Amino acid sequence: MKKIVVFASGNGSNFQALLDAVHNGNLQAEVSLLVCDRPGAFVIDRAKNAAVPFFVFQPKEFLDKEEYESQILALLKEKKIEWIILAGYMRLIGQTLLQAYEGRIVNIHPSLLPAFPGKDAVGQALEAGVEQTGVTVHYVDAGMDTGEIIAQEVVEMIPDETSDSLQAKIQKVEHQLYPRVVKMLLDGKKEATSI
Ligand code: GAR
Repeated sequence: MKKIVVFASGNGSNFQALLDAVHNGNLQAEVSLLVCDRPGAFVIDRAKNAAVPFFVFQPKEFLDKEEYESQILALLKEKKIEWIILAGYMRLIGQTLLQAYEGRIVNIHPSLLPAFPGKDAVGQALEAGVEQTGVTVHYVDAGMDTGEIIAQEVVEMIPDETSDSLQAKIQKVEHQLYPRVVKMLLDGKKEATSI
């Protein structure tokens, strides 16, 4: 069974979707660890409920990114983790993890990248008044949501779209798409643009 770690900062609904996919037999993987950079985030409760080990840290308690990523890396090696899955982790990945897990770190983002990278992609799409937005799963590099795109799915905007309604539609797509793409990656397939 391939071992994965999920990095998350907040609610953790995508973490939950991955756990559910494993539970339902749709994803053959072991979620061996949750890494969270915000003590108090709801995703930690989700890990506790599912008996998934977690590592919670506060970046300000470390000298720099290299120091906390080295600590995380030691844990990942100890647990023989093969893939890093970012799910609402609101922090750039540094060289320590990028070099150790080159080509094996993926992220989900709530827009059709390269449109609306960074924070509040849903708000950015509403502000721009576009007719379509969506979800992207991509490999992670040193940039902000700049890595090679693996899969995208379109979400149509309606005329009176609100932040809440758009957020709900996007998350529904995310919860289907991410487990499917992670499954495909663990199966050794690289391209998923047509799924
Ligand atoms: C998700 O919509 C994810 O795409 C987004 O944060 C949300 C986390 O939700 N990620 C980013 O914006 C990354 N730039 P969740 O905590 O319920 O999974």
